[in-house]
Amino acid sequence: MTANPSVLLRLPADLQPDRLPKHVAVIMDGNGRWAKKQGIPRIMGHRRGVDTLKDILRCCKDWGIGALTAYAFSTENWGRPLEEVDFLMTLFERVLRQELREMMKENVRIQFVGNLNALPKSLQVEIERSMEETRHNTGIQFSVATNYGGRQEIIQACRAIATQVQQGLLQPHEINETLFAQHLYTADVCDPDLMIRTSGEMRISNFLLWQAAYAELYVTDTLWPDFNREAFHRALISYQKRDRRFGKV
Ligand code: IPE
Ligand code: IPE
Ligand code: MG
Repeated sequence: MTANPSVLLRLPADLQPDRLPKHVAVIMDGNGRWAKKQGIPRIMGHRRGVDTLKDILRCCKDWGIGALTAYAFSTENWGRPLEEVDFLMTLFERVLRQELREMMKENVRIQFVGNLNALPKSLQVEIERSMEETRHNTGIQFSVATNYGGRQEIIQACRAIATQVQQGLLQPHEINETLFAQHLYTADVCDPDLMIRTSGEMRISNFLLWQAAYAELYVTDTLWPDFNREAFHRALISYQKRDRRFGKV
């Protein structure tokens, strides 16, 4: 949780409610470094990271942001030590099970983006259950990128489209940006307006490669477990100062 979770329950007065991003994407980085700084195992950083995510999700809801996508596990993260990967998979499963009731109460619609078939079966069961139960919720749309890779996502979209062409259901000239986007995991959510990365790294690490074409990028040195409503407020202030031109003058 944030140092003082009672602060900033409402949208801060210096933010314009009509100019908030509709969709915020976060690269939740720095859990390991946070733990190292405290002299505790990396996995404790991941545990604290979950508390941050819960507060930022609730904050989006409190402040009127309609969609949040969080990068939880990349296709490259399988390359980490087995114990860390196992810990993360078990953590995801446990948190999902524990938080489902709360998400129902808060009207959250959760979905998972990524290659879910490669996840442990017991996690897939919890994922299915949470998506099914929250399917008709009308509040914030919360997407968790798990075993997600932007390149992998583009490849699977290409395969699906190629199959339709092969079957004669689609002509090559009918392939356009709209159709392509419909084959991505994110088909039912708008592109992110703001992409935040914590822990100071200036890269997107294979996150939402297609969707982030015109996202405003915001990088903060704050490590994810220390990211809180004040830090999110600063990101939104920065966002509202941007001049989004979309290639025009
Ligand atoms: C982000 O924190 C969480 C995941 C990638 C699962 P890291 O674990 O990457 O933390 P650092 O970058 O090593 O500090
Ligand atoms: C990106 O963080 C992936 C997630 C936050 C899940 P990483 O820590 O894996 O990225 P790199 O290795 O610094 O690029
Ligand atoms: Mg990292």
